[in-house]
Amino acid sequence: MPKSVLVAAGTGKQGRVVARELLERGHAVHILTRNPSSDTAKELQSMEAVLHAGDLGSAETIQTALDNVDAIFLAIPVNPANPAAEIAYAKNVLEAARNNGVKNIIYSSVARTGEHESFPGWNDDYPMAWYWKNKDTIEHMVRTAGIEHWTILRPAFFIQNFCRPEVEYMFPGLADAHELRVAFNADTQLDLIDVSDIAKFAAAALGSPSDFSGKEITLAAEKLTAAQIAELLSTISGEKITVDYINDNQAITLQKQGHIVIEAQLWQRDVGYGVDIESLKRYGVPLTLLSKALDQGALKWLSQQVGLSE
Ligand SMILES: NC(=O)c1ccc[n+]([C@@H]2O[C@H](COP(=O)([O-])OP(=O)(O)OC[C@H]3O[C@@H](n4cnc5c(N)ncnc54)[C@H](OP(=O)(O)O)[C@@H]3O)[C@@H](O)[C@H]2O)c1
Repeated sequence: MPKSVLVAAGTGKQGRVVARELLERGHAVHILTRNPSSDTAKELQSMEAVLHAGDLGSAETIQTALDNVDAIFLAIPVNPANPAAEIAYAKNVLEAARNNGVKNIIYSSVARTGEHESFPGWNDDYPMAWYWKNKDTIEHMVRTAGIEHWTILRPAFFIQNFCRPEVEYMFPGLADAHELRVAFNADTQLDLIDVSDIAKFAAAALGSPSDFSGKEITLAAEKLTAAQIAELLSTISGEKITVDYINDNQAITLQKQGHIVIEAQLWQRDVGYGVDIESLKRYGVPLTLLSKALDQGALKWLSQQVGLSE
């Protein structure tokens, strides 16, 4: 049965793809965005999504956007300069959801949430400790919000991080110098997920709450080394991509300068998302491998987005 769903943040990497997936499946989609005149917002509007100009920081605008809405897909932007905002946004959404009688919430968190205290060397000064604590706190808030159905999706690393505009920040040197610079070992495997697979799981959870309610599902489609990723990106772009392994001394210098991408890569090397991909088969949701994505026609999109051939 078609549902009415609020997608927030509606124009982000996940939100825009979730919105498209739900619209294609016949659901009514509402989008919360600070900027309804952005290209993404307008594209979603042209597909019949209802735009709500609003901010996750404003309980009032969220309340308005939730009028007659049955369900929410929630992916909350993070701001390293103001980590507390993520919690405040979650609180605003969950309170408004309760007030409006929302029946189902699908919250997109991150793989390994809740396990931070078991990370080797964990303490309050652990790199990006705020990130792990925030996700854990919000998951707890979702479970205890009193909403009839909740599902927590825990995606690993987005394939979209190799695309513009994220690539400029996540992998400086990749788009311009064709170098994949990573603080990985040669055998480090990165767990990857395409955001369209998050959308498929969200749609499944929305369509079948009895199968997904109360579930916490960690998501990845494959695990690839930097060399394997570089090879695939070379195929996509037609450019020779090489891997530049950042050594420990360089990594520590960058880390001290506050490069959180390096901190994240060191975490991916030393801890990692550790997704049990096999266990996802039981949901019957197809997953998109990077190599399969090429066969399925993503080549053009990725080559344009990655911009490696410029
Ligand atoms: N990147 C990864 O590999 C990865 C992996 C796992 C989990 N995650 C998690 O994914 C989450 C982010 O999701 P995403 O990457 O889909 O988002 P995103 O692409 O970072 O998009 C964030 C969107 O949030 C909107 N936004 C920003 N501030 C807002 C505010 N105050 N009120 C309303 N909207 C606001 C912006 O849209 P407007 O300008 O239109 O308002 C923007 O499009 C984070 O919690 C991150 O930890 C990321």
